[in-house]
Amino acid sequence: MTREEALDSIKDNVENANLVKHMLATEAIMCSLARRLGEDEEEWGLTGLLHDIDMELTGGDMNSHSKLGADLARELGASEAMAHAIFCHNETHAVPLETKLDKALFCVDPLTGLIIAAALVRPDKKLAGVEAKSVRKRFKEKSFAAGVDRQQISLCSQLSVELDEFIELGLKAMQEIAPVLGL
Ligand SMILES: [Fe+2]
Repeated sequence: MTREEALDSIKDNVENANLVKHMLATEAIMCSLARRLGEDEEEWGLTGLLHDIDMELTGGDMNSHSKLGADLARELGASEAMAHAIFCHNETHAVPLETKLDKALFCVDPLTGLIIAAALVRPDKKLAGVEAKSVRKRFKEKSFAAGVDRQQISLCSQLSVELDEFIELGLKAMQEIAPVLGL
């Protein structure tokens, strides 16, 4: 599967522009994390890009979310490792995270939300001026973007990446695609 094929399929299945941006942000951080860990950047990036492709099709039914997504990814030619990571990123299925790719997608997913929230509280609402230290501060404020699961983000430690570095890496990856994200 090429990235273009993945994007075409996203266009066919996702209307919400913010959801597409979330998937692009997840892709960017997954690529960066793959580089950091010496993993397959293409595989990790595509996994991030596709991970919520079924969100609108499943209409909020968490029992089918990510199960359908994994099937769609397989149809596009994703490897079993990619499909598994997509499947188990939804905690509802209670599937243990086995591989590095599983763990990476699981902890990158909520990090995008925290970083976007940190940009949106700025007067200019731009990512460019966001500093890693302010995202780290926001991480500790439980009432800030309360829906963002801090424990899930902290799972980066299982990839031998400390939280501070993880936040910095995620912020930088998203800043690099800020125009695409409209932030
Ligand atoms: Fe997601």
